Parts: sequence; structure tokens; C-alpha cells
Amino acid sequence: MAILLKGGTIVSASGRRQLDLRMEAEIIQEIGSDLAANPGDQVIDVQGQFLLPGFIDAHTHFELNNGVTDTADNFTTSSRGAIVGGTTSIIDFATPERGGTLRDCLAEWHQMAERKTSCDYSYHMSLIEWNQQIASEVPLMIEEGISSFKMYMAYDNLRTSDGAIFEAMLAIRKEHGMLGIHCENGDMVNELIKKLVGEGHVSTHYHPLSRPDSVEAEAVERYLMMADLAGLPVNIVHLSTQRSLESVKRARDRGQKVFVETCPHYLVLDDQLYDGPGFEGGKYVCSPPLRSKADQAYLWDNVISGEIDTISTDHCSFNFKGQKELGLLDFSKIPNGLPGVETRPILMYSYGVATGRITLEKMVALLSEKIARQFGMFPQKGILQVGSQADIVVWNPQGKGVISAKTQEQAVDYTPFEGMETVGSPRQVYLRGQLVAENGKVILGNQGRFIHRGTSDWTC
Ligand code: URP
Ligand code: ZN
Ligand code: ZN
Ligand code: ZN
Repeated sequence: MAILLKGGTIVSASGRRQLDLRMEAEIIQEIGSDLAANPGDQVIDVQGQFLLPGFIDAHTHFELNNGVTDTADNFTTSSRGAIVGGTTSIIDFATPERGGTLRDCLAEWHQMAERKTSCDYSYHMSLIEWNQQIASEVPLMIEEGISSFKMYMAYDNLRTSDGAIFEAMLAIRKEHGMLGIHCENGDMVNELIKKLVGEGHVSTHYHPLSRPDSVEAEAVERYLMMADLAGLPVNIVHLSTQRSLESVKRARDRGQKVFVETCPHYLVLDDQLYDGPGFEGGKYVCSPPLRSKADQAYLWDNVISGEIDTISTDHCSFNFKGQKELGLLDFSKIPNGLPGVETRPILMYSYGVATGRITLEKMVALLSEKIARQFGMFPQKGILQVGSQADIVVWNPQGKGVISAKTQEQAVDYTPFEGMETVGSPRQVYLRGQLVAENGKVILGNQGRFIHRGTSDWTC
């Protein structure tokens, strides 16, 4: 049975038009003005609503163990949060055991996600070490539809040497893959934590002081110099400061291709939250940390100017009670990460589009189309055009609300965005032509499918 959406305004990264849209058998079949209903069509009046391509979150940690504790959410609960918020596809991080193979890791992530996920999904493969076995599996990953990789310059259990990063870059370039790196100088983070905690500076106030902007910018600079040597276009995940972005601009000026991702929390929250009452600051402990208001303003300027390519969440949820509280007496013991997959679209609409900072077209580019292009999913996803998968968000620009943990779908016991007022709301969410969420409620769960991605568009 076909569904005909009548009277809405279809928005892409390049413009908007009031047109009807027919979808059937997972695909957008027809777009045009005054489409007539066929017998049996379900006709839905979407006048006054925007039709947006389903949002894609290229940075989630739906289900992981950080070495001490498991995330509060998992593929089931995180993905329910995704679809009620309008996110129909995610790319998670698959992370192998040390000494393990990429093939086994991929199988493990498939097993975690299969039949339990309510949005479509893929993974970036994490390279936490570099050896002949891992190198030989890079082409295999591409064949399996995993065309992007992740490495770390911080976290002792995940980071590799610069030599390993450089060798991986050469291997990824050969396969036309995409590399993203967590950029923080791990040695400096360790030294600063040791110094601060040794001096008795254990409250959350000291978390951002243990990971200052120089620690991030130095890693970004080193990464980009290595990428220049390797001749590889690269992605920077969760970029959070002016100094890091200045390094990117220098690289771009010398002709390098660099993709930049930032996250909603760096745009709408700031480091004063680490000085909240009691242990409230624990709710905001993530890496890189929340930054100054000056950094936040600089990031917005560069979202607007286009120097920042994409916005994803780094969704990684730990409960406040019992999990964040592991660091009550020492900020460095607080599990790192913030929940966010559910709230990215509404935050970007409310604090980006509704405030007049960005257009809705720009929001579509940042949260959907550019991500689809960068990660080998375009035009199946990222755009509403005939032949594309019918991942559609019917967006009500009149919606008004307040973000609250009480009403969220995610299982985690708090939200860092508690009490923030919102404008606009996802009225209906279609995943490959099926209504999966409506007005904040899951209508049909567990419909998510693995996305076999092609190679990245390095030029987009
Ligand atoms: O604090 C964070 N971001 N935790 C998740 C892992 C990462 O660094 O991306
Ligand atoms: Zn990271
Ligand atoms: Zn992350
Ligand atoms: Zn290419």
C-alpha cells in the first residue's frame, strides 16, 4: 500500500518546494504538485509541515563497556530514542578486543544490533592497534559495507602510536575509506589528571582543566600533518574549540581535505556547568569537555559559515545515579559521555533554525545530506527524491516543548538538556516507508536494518 503525503514542503540542502510525495515498497516513488490518490492509497494531510530527509547520526556509542561499566542504554533503547527524535539512521562505533580481529568484532556488533534496533544502522570500525592481521582486514571491511574507521589519540585502552595511525592512513587511502580520529593528546591528559588529582583537585570543576583546548588542538594539528603526509582526506570527530578549528583552517589553506564534525552539546552547553551545585557537574563529563562561551560562539560562527560540515551526537549514556557517581570523589573516575541521540534534531531546530542562526536547508545539510555523502549512503539516504529510501520526518514548525528526562524514550536516568525549551517537533517519522514514530511515541519498533555503505565521497 502506498502512502501519499499531501501539501507539505519538501526541504533539501539546496532548497524547498511545496510538493506531494508518494512512497511505496520502502522507496519514494513520485514527487509532484497535486498528485492524485490511487485506489488504496493512504492519504495524509501534511499542510503546514516540512518534509525532511530522515536525520543521520554518524557518531553514536549505543552499547559499550568503557572498561568499568556498561552504558545505560543499548541498541534497543538508544534506537527508540533516535526514531522518536527523527533520526532514522546511525553509525555506531564497533570496537574490537585487543588482539581480536575486525571480522570477529563486526560479527559481535551485528549480533548486538540485529533485530533489536529501531533505526537503520552501520558502524565505523575502530582500529585500536595496527598489525598485519588488522591491515589485511581493512579491504574486507570495505567489502562488508564498513567504509569508515576510527582511531584514538587518547584513552589508554584505545589509543595507538602515531606510527600506527600513519600506517593505517596509507591502508585506508588505498581503499578510498574515511578515517575519523578522537583528537586529544593522551599523554598530556594523563599528566594533567595526575597533577590535579595529586593536588586534591578532584571536583568536576577540574575536568575541563585536565583536557584544555591545547590538548585537543595539538592532537588535531598532529593528525592533520600526518594526514597531509599520507595524502588522505580525513574526518575530525567531536571538534570542540576555536584553536582546533584554526588548525583545520590552516590545513585547508594548504589544500588538504578535512571534514569537521561537532556535537550539539558544544553548541548549547558550556563549561560553567561543571561548577553546578553538589555533583550536578558530573552529568556533563564528556571528552572533549564542554567549552567556554567564546568557543561556543566561534563554533556557531563556523557552523553558519560552513567550516563545520556535520553535527552528530557522540551519544554515550551513563546513568547519573550509580554510574556518573563513580566519580563523586574523583572527577577522572566519572564515565565519559553524554546521551544525545534523541535530542539532536530538536536542539538544532530550536537553537539553530528558530533563532535565525541557520536555515532549515542548512540543518538538513548538517544532520543528513552531508553525512550521507561523506559516509557512502547517498542518495539512498540524505535526500528526498524519487528512488531514494523513504526515510522521512514530517516536521511540525509550530511544536513547542521542554526537554525532560521524564518524557524521553532513552533509558538513561537524566538528560544534559533538562528544562531547555524547544520549538518544532517531529510529528511523524517514516523509516523506509513505514510509520515508526509519531508525536514522541514509538509506533513500530525493531525495524532497523544494517546499511551496507559504499565508499565515501571525498569531494563533498
Ligand atoms: O566522552 C565521550 N565522548 N565518550 C565517548 C567516547 C568518545 O570519546 O567518543
Ligand atoms: Zn571520542
Ligand atoms: Zn565518541
Ligand atoms: Zn571519490
